[in-house]
Amino acid sequence: MKKQFNSSEMVNNKKHKSNRDQSWEIQEPFRTVVQNISEIIFLVDMDGSWSFLNPAWYDITGFSIEEAIGKNVLSYVCPGEYFTEMKGLFCQLMQQEIEIIDISSRFITKSGGFRWLEVFAGTVKDGNGRITGISGSMNDITIPKLVTEELRVKQVQLEEMNRNLEIIVQNEVAKNREKDLLLIQQGRLAAMGEMIGNIAHQWRQPLNAIGLVIQNMLDAYEYSELTRDYLQNQVNKATDIIQYMSQTIDDFRNFFKQNKEKQNYSLKEVLDKTLSFIEASFKNNNIQLELNVEEDIALHGYPNEYSQVLLNILNNAKDAHLKKNQFKRWVKIRAYPENEKSVVIICDNAGGIPDKIISKIFEPYFTTKEPGKGTGIGLYMSKAIIEKNMRGSLTVRNIEGGAEFRIECSIR
Ligand SMILES: Nc1ncnc2c1ncn2[C@@H]1O[C@H](COP(=O)(O)OP(=O)(O)O)[C@@H](O)[C@H]1O
Ligand SMILES: [Mg+2]
Repeated sequence: MKKQFNSSEMVNNKKHKSNRDQSWEIQEPFRTVVQNISEIIFLVDMDGSWSFLNPAWYDITGFSIEEAIGKNVLSYVCPGEYFTEMKGLFCQLMQQEIEIIDISSRFITKSGGFRWLEVFAGTVKDGNGRITGISGSMNDITIPKLVTEELRVKQVQLEEMNRNLEIIVQNEVAKNREKDLLLIQQGRLAAMGEMIGNIAHQWRQPLNAIGLVIQNMLDAYEYSELTRDYLQNQVNKATDIIQYMSQTIDDFRNFFKQNKEKQNYSLKEVLDKTLSFIEASFKNNNIQLELNVEEDIALHGYPNEYSQVLLNILNNAKDAHLKKNQFKRWVKIRAYPENEKSVVIICDNAGGIPDKIISKIFEPYFTTKEPGKGTGIGLYMSKAIIEKNMRGSLTVRNIEGGAEFRIECSIR
């Protein structure tokens, strides 16, 4: 509620004023304006005390005009940084070092709180140009000031939250990268384990052959047929076999070297090479392998990675067969171009994948095999290689009597 301007206050005011300076008198209609305006209008005398205040003073600070008149302006300013600044500015104004004051400061209120006031002030001069005091107005800017302050605090909090969020995201990304690296590592280890199984199969036959050579030499000796020529012949045979075995190891080693750069390669060559690694193991397990390349396709990318994908799928088909007592076991591979894409289809007759797990087989660590036999990484890695590194697709579906995997890669 705005306090009504009370004429006795004005009289008091005038009385007080009249002791020092008779030169001012508020005339109508300005008197009414000064009474009703929401800004504080003030006069300060030469010793820094209020000599006139309009009713807005009471409305804003809660102090009555009577108790304020004659008191020093600074006794209503909240102590602190603005106090000193305000004091300095008042002195400068009196000494005519500056012409006006425009400052925001906190003023105390009767209730023990404070209000932010924006003070505009200049000097009052008499007819001779002598400074007789200071006059001005004060505007209550508490609400906008607090809102601004609150906004500033919120802004700081927001920036802090943003920073934290960035750190959280960075940590998560780093964690994910670590997880990926771990998966790749595990995937490679698992593939190598499967590979060692394949080497064992590939070596079974040459090892038997070497055993035979040694036995032959012993027999020849016992029947006194061990001539120098015969011995040389058997040694040559054994050396050839050993060379072949050593070649297999080199092949496997090269196969596990990751291609660093993309290169052009023939799909047929990659298929032939991959099958050569597993041929022996398939044969020993009575699984018939059939390869049908309708037309060789030139691809651009990482041949070793592609080969590892084929190997994962073929080893899975072999595992599926070993779990099942199928009379005639087979795995068929077909390769052909289709709409600027190379398509490789690998299917088996090992019974297929149960409907309730088929959507999960590409998830990392999903396996139906016993611990030590399966890691669940093979198909996850294979999909990542085809879809991320080669921008292709790897999909699966069940067919009559088995499963069918389909690898599509863009030819360009
Ligand atoms: N040809 C297939 N026939 C039946 N099930 C398969 C076949 N290929 C994959 N699976 C299923 O997919 C699962 C995940 O395969 P994979 O990611 O290679 O992991 P792992 O071979 O270590 O189990 C296998 O455990 C198996 O249940
Ligand atoms: Mg596997």
